[in-house]
Amino acid sequence: MCGIVAYIGEREACPIVLEGIKRLDYRGYDSAGIAVVRDGRLVIRRSVGRISALEEKLDHELEGATLGMAHTRWATHGGVTEPNAHPHTDRSGKLAIVHNGIIENYRALKAFLAQAGLTFESQTDTEILAKLIGYFYEGKLEDAVRKALREVRGTFGIAALHADEPGTIVAARRGSPLIVGIGDGEYVVASDAAAIVQHTSQVIYLSDNEVAIVTRDGFRTTTLDAAPVSKDIEEVEYTLRQLELGGHQHFMAKEIFEQPESLRNCMRGRLDLEAGRVVLGGLTSVSRELIKTKRIILTACGTAWHAGLVGEYLIEQLARVPCETEYASEFRYRNPIIEDGTTVLAISQSGETIDTLAALREGRERGALALGIVNSVGSTIARETDAGVYLHVGPEIGVASTKAFTGQLTVLAMIAAFLGRRRHLSHEECFQYLSGLAAIPDAVEKALQLDSATRQIAAEFVDANNWLYLGRGLQYPVALEGALKLKEISYIHAEGLPAAEMKHGPIALISEDMPVVVLAPRDHWYEKVLGNINEVRSRGGRVIAIASEGDHEIADLAEHVLYVPDVTELLQPLVTVIPLQMLAYHAAVLRGCDVDKPRNLAKAVTVE
Ligand code: M6R
Repeated sequence: MCGIVAYIGEREACPIVLEGIKRLDYRGYDSAGIAVVRDGRLVIRRSVGRISALEEKLDHELEGATLGMAHTRWATHGGVTEPNAHPHTDRSGKLAIVHNGIIENYRALKAFLAQAGLTFESQTDTEILAKLIGYFYEGKLEDAVRKALREVRGTFGIAALHADEPGTIVAARRGSPLIVGIGDGEYVVASDAAAIVQHTSQVIYLSDNEVAIVTRDGFRTTTLDAAPVSKDIEEVEYTLRQLELGGHQHFMAKEIFEQPESLRNCMRGRLDLEAGRVVLGGLTSVSRELIKTKRIILTACGTAWHAGLVGEYLIEQLARVPCETEYASEFRYRNPIIEDGTTVLAISQSGETIDTLAALREGRERGALALGIVNSVGSTIARETDAGVYLHVGPEIGVASTKAFTGQLTVLAMIAAFLGRRRHLSHEECFQYLSGLAAIPDAVEKALQLDSATRQIAAEFVDANNWLYLGRGLQYPVALEGALKLKEISYIHAEGLPAAEMKHGPIALISEDMPVVVLAPRDHWYEKVLGNINEVRSRGGRVIAIASEGDHEIADLAEHVLYVPDVTELLQPLVTVIPLQMLAYHAAVLRGCDVDKPRNLAKAVTVE
């Protein structure tokens, strides 16, 4: 999604904001732009494509400015063109804004401005907002911004500058994240902490409908009605080193290989094996209510939704609480029935996915206990929940989620045990299960040794344009996740299915041209899955099986077998997904795809 970085201080603004948007480019973008205020004049450059194309347009006119902002755009309104790139200006050409979000009533606002005689150069909703702020401008930018935003329906994270106010950035948010980094005599406003951490670790997170007025001497925050708001200064959790490749070719590879460590971090201090219980500090304030919950609704999008499907299974098995997993985008609009004692648990790596946030709000407004499983500390979902559990797996940069997925599974496994132990699991049962969980990082480490085997398989099938992934029970969501990984980064069509559903239609697709990945660890669906493998084989299909170490029987049935360590049955998804992540990664690399920034995708989907 769009990235925003603005700087005010004593240093040269241009390189700082450019470096900032480069740190955000993992979020996905299609054009970029920059504005600085220099010698009482606004200087703007914009370009389509990569940030390097924008850099080619930079000249001495931007030099020496100590106030500036930059933007990466992910198109929503209007095509990918230079006039549609941000920053956008008002009629005077002295005021500029950058924006992330959607102005839903922009048509009505545009008609109003057109009646007042204004004309427009772009097809964007953002230009309407810039012109509206300009329309209200009477010598004080903060007043004009507040006035305009009171008229707006929709979401925004904005930063605004005015050539007549060279000592001020005005920033505001509703729905789209915005953070103010507090340095020594300088400030960086950004949509993501990744653009701030190299300058400072001290930040404030703006809440919805708040405005920050940032000068070289300090900052103030207000509501849209100009009432002062006091903010706590917080510490950003991660470091610059975590945002770098560290010798890997891609962030996705780095993050796949980080998983043993990220899972250890995720569990650190949370498993009390001796007492046979889980300690989740983030849930302490709601534990009484949570233990008594009658129904849990897990809500999420994409990979996080797949994690939810596994979580549903674990919670029902261990805690015996009815649990269902809902696509956030569907749940929010379907007038859901929330009875007393319902818990809505949002799962999100970024904590900014707009549909997941809206689903959480929907549940909460209808009286549910609102919980979150989030990676990004201080993100909107984390701040809007009644309580929650952080993943602590470190920042995930690759668009394809990997370590966040296994982190989400681990947190869900811990929540299931937390509830199970308080409802009916014995000390011994919980001890066994938690010991199994504690052993997972080592098992993942072992599964990572399949790297070269997965590369060979990816090379053998590199020209196949359709793949099928089959799994049953706990392995069905893993099949969905494997298929999603493959399609999003290598653009190969892939479908995940419950293996038994194949007979109800998709079996017609089976041919030697379509590799079929079958998840077949030793679990209580194993015999059934062998039957499904036979069905594929007898129709000429080519099977790649993911199986448990020591299973020689399967080698006679499948063309390729990738063996993963045997772990506690309920926790097997944590290891069976590893070869699928690597398979997708190698297929994308072999096809020459941009692994970390796949086309059309954004890391955090902050628009509907
Ligand atoms: O940040 P979130 O976990 O809320 O993101 C949800 C999905 O957009 C995300 O998992 C997406 O499906 C990934 N690209 C999958 O790799």
